[in-house]
This record gives sequence, C-alpha cells and structure tokens, in this order.
Amino acid sequence: MNIYYPPQFWKNKKLLFGITGGISAFKVAGYVSHLVQAGSDIQVIMTESAQQFIGKNTFSALTRKPVYTDLFESGEKILHIHLMREYECFVVAPATANIIGKMAGGIGDDLLSSCFFVDPKKVIFAPAMNVDMWHNPIVQENIKKLIAIGVRVIIPSSGNLACGERGEGRLPEQEEFLEALYYLLCSPQPLQGKKVLITAGPTREYIDPIRYLTNSSSGLMGCSLAAAARARGADVTLIAGPMSVRIPSGIHFLPIVSTQDLKTAVLEQYDKTDICIMNAAVADYRPSNISTVKIKKQGKSELILNLIQNPDILSELGRRKVSQVLVGFCAEDGDIVTEARQKLQQKNCDVMVANQILTGESGFEVDKNKAWFLNKNGEMIDIPLMSKMELAEIIIDQIGAFYFS
Ligand code: CTP
Repeated sequence: MNIYYPPQFWKNKKLLFGITGGISAFKVAGYVSHLVQAGSDIQVIMTESAQQFIGKNTFSALTRKPVYTDLFESGEKILHIHLMREYECFVVAPATANIIGKMAGGIGDDLLSSCFFVDPKKVIFAPAMNVDMWHNPIVQENIKKLIAIGVRVIIPSSGNLACGERGEGRLPEQEEFLEALYYLLCSPQPLQGKKVLITAGPTREYIDPIRYLTNSSSGLMGCSLAAAARARGADVTLIAGPMSVRIPSGIHFLPIVSTQDLKTAVLEQYDKTDICIMNAAVADYRPSNISTVKIKKQGKSELILNLIQNPDILSELGRRKVSQVLVGFCAEDGDIVTEARQKLQQKNCDVMVANQILTGESGFEVDKNKAWFLNKNGEMIDIPLMSKMELAEIIIDQIGAFYFS
C-alpha cells in the first residue's frame, strides 16, 4: 500500500467524524482506527440510522471515548456548539442523500445535522450511495448549494456498490480517502492556481513485441511529489511510464511507455506549465531497430543489440524555458553534489535534486531517499535520509519558497 501523505501529518489533529446511515459506515471504522493510531484526536457522533449499520461500541472502542448520538445528552455544554468549536473539521462519512438534503434544506433535527449549522466551512462531506441516487438532480443540486457556502466534498469513487450495481457512489478506499482528506486539510496552499508537471517512473524501450530495456524505478518519488504539490493547491499533471506503485488521486495522469513518448507528452504540456519536475528515470538508449516479431535464438550463441541515444528531454526543456521553474533529478553514486551542479548548469535548470543510490537504504525500489537540493543561485540544502513522501514535501515547499513566496 502506498501512502501519499506524511504519517506525522495526522499527529494531534482534532477531527470530528459524523456517521450517517449507509452500509459503508463500516469502512469509516478503518479510517478512524488508522487516524487514532497516527495520533489524531477523533470524536465520533452517529445518527439513529447509522446505528442500524454499525454499533456505537465499535467507535467508542476505537477512539477510547464515548460516541455522541443525542442532541440533549451533555448536561453542562450545548453539545453541537461545543463540538464544532473544539474540533478542526467535521467529516460526515458516509453522507447519505438524506443528510445532504437536510443540510441543503436547512433542517437540523438531531445532533449531527445541528452541528452542520454551527460552521458549514468546517464540514467535509463524503457522499456514498447508489449510482442513480448520486446522479439524481436533486442530490447534485444540493451538493452544489453546499459547496457554494464553503462545504468541501470528497467525491465518491466508482466500482461495485453494495446494492449489486456498478458505478459512482462508493466511499473511497482508506488510502484514497485519507489522501483526499490530507489535500483538503493542508493549508496554506501556496501553489493554488499553479500548473505543475511531474514525470515519474521508468521508461521502457522495446527490443521486440515482448522484451524491453528499462530500469528499476518504482515511481514512488514522482507520485509523492505529485501528491505533495496537489496538497499545496497545485493543478498537477503526472506523466509516467509503467510504475509499480499506486497513482495518487486528484491529479491528471498521462501514461507513456518510451522516452520518445515521454518527450512528446511533456512538450505538449510544457508551455502551459509553471513548474516542471523531471523525476522520470529516463532510458538514455533505445534499440536502433525494434523487431516486429519475437526474436528467436535460432542457434545463435550471442545476440548483439545496437542501441542509439535517446533525446535528452530535460536539456530540451532547458533550451525552451520561458518562465517555467525547471527541476531536474539525478540519481548518483559518485561525487553526488559535483555531478548535480554540473547537470544543473548544463541542462539550464533552476533546481537539481540529487539523490544517493546504491547504498541499500536510499534510491530505487526503497521508500526512503537521501538527497541534496541545489538551486541555480548556488545554494544547497543537505537533506537527511527520510521517507520519499517527507522528502517530496520538503522539495515542493522549497520550490514554493524560492519562486512563489
Ligand atoms: N533526463 C532526460 N532525458 C534523458 C536523460 C535524463 O530528461 N535522456 C533527465 C532526467 O529525468 C533527470 C535528469 O535528466 O531529471 C538527470 O538524469 P540523469 O540520468 O542523472 O542524467 P543524464 O543526463 O542521463 O546523465 P548520465 O546518465 O550520463 O549521468
């Protein structure tokens, strides 16, 4: 499972969860369990119908706190006002068509719906229902109304629904749900309105229809950069070859295979890009001929492949640069900083991130990196070994601080 939020993000977060009566209420127990273990302070409130699907004891055991269900149960405090003042946000998950309609229509007749009226800007809805219910014009109209007054929405995902039908309406799986929540809770958003183009993963150069040359890049660093940029408000496009990791949600994804495909896709986007991060592990060479049929041994004891050099995409972007912030990556095992400085200059980049490979704990196929961040003013930050997601946040924040503050 790839997680595109830094685990420490959840430490000491105060989150109020409202559970309404949908079958996917059981999934929320998983989210709450994860968040409590990550250090969040979670308070759960439930409607009457939510308790038809999951017991209140499940949530009180997970949060180690009583679950509130009744508007009038607290003696001293006015409960709905107290909870909405005390907690950072109010996540309604699953949010049924009924609760969405009640809130859009101004009805607060129980604890959960009354909380909404205290501060709609703190409310995050995660609707979950049958596909036709979700696309019902009244539900859509209600969602628009709520968004217009500052309510945030985690859009349901597509797939098999509890009713046996297929389509949009599922409560997202845990990692996608928490990723969406991370995007919504991240503030400030210094890259709001900026277009960020990120390349990730390996490229693949075919020899024949089934065999190819590639490298062991998983794509994790590029995907982490995409999630970190998205969390800071950017409109992110990720272009990547075949990766072994999950693609983060909330971004535009353009798949490619070869270095030449990558060049075409990147150049198509480049003019409308504010920040371009070339993190892909690009194949420098490709076979001069691709066999259209499977290459047979046919008694040959050796096979000689003729390789020709691929275009250097980053150098091309450096030549075409107008106002883009251009960021290169280099994976090195020798004199890392000297190599990175040379590449920064030669490829006309604004930033070069050098990461250490071949140590076993940093680089390809592991979830950590040791890196150096260099900019074209000659400044350098030596970043210790850390998870790729933590490193991605530092890189994106540094780019934001240098160029957009
Ligand atoms: N890069 C590129 N096109 C290539 C090769 C690399 O755009 N054909 C980009 C990478 O995405 C990375 C940067 O250039 O951002 C540095 O990649 P690296 O492989 O370290 O550098 P090379 O120029 O290929 O040099 P070498 O492999 O000889 O060290």
